[in-house]
Amino acid sequence: MSSLEQTLSIIKPDAVERNLDNEIKDIFKNKGFKIVKEKKIQITKLEAEQFYKVHETKPFYVDLCAYLSSGPIVVMILEKENAIIANRELMGATNPKDAIEGTIRKKFGLSIDKNSVHGSDSIDNAKIEINFFFKD
Ligand code: CMP
Repeated sequence: MSSLEQTLSIIKPDAVERNLDNEIKDIFKNKGFKIVKEKKIQITKLEAEQFYKVHETKPFYVDLCAYLSSGPIVVMILEKENAIIANRELMGATNPKDAIEGTIRKKFGLSIDKNSVHGSDSIDNAKIEINFFFKD
């Protein structure tokens, strides 16, 4: 079954720093995603800790939050039929080493931390994550 969904996408500091944000946005658009809202921001470490709270018990949590707040990011609401799974497929595996050809992380990811993009992993988390960055 297909349904029109919205998901949250983040272009992470490693990609923004390399000026890849427009190229990555074009990849989404060419794959049929509508960018409903977007903004380039830099978040605080505290905001990153809140955003990634689901990972707070993980060994990589501290580094992850320091990293996401280390430079500008682009946050977007993406819309498409089955947007959540479609975005996860287009991003590729979390670790760029495992990502298959044709995915964003394969093309641009540098490491499991600097993996260029984030995407919501479920309908519930998409709502939470969209609301986190776009409250209006
Ligand atoms: P992301 O999809 O943004 O969600 C959490 C992030 O934690 C993930 O991408 C990775 O960049 C980062 N991370 C670092 N180490 C790990 C790990 N061992 N397993 C999963 N995610 C990790």
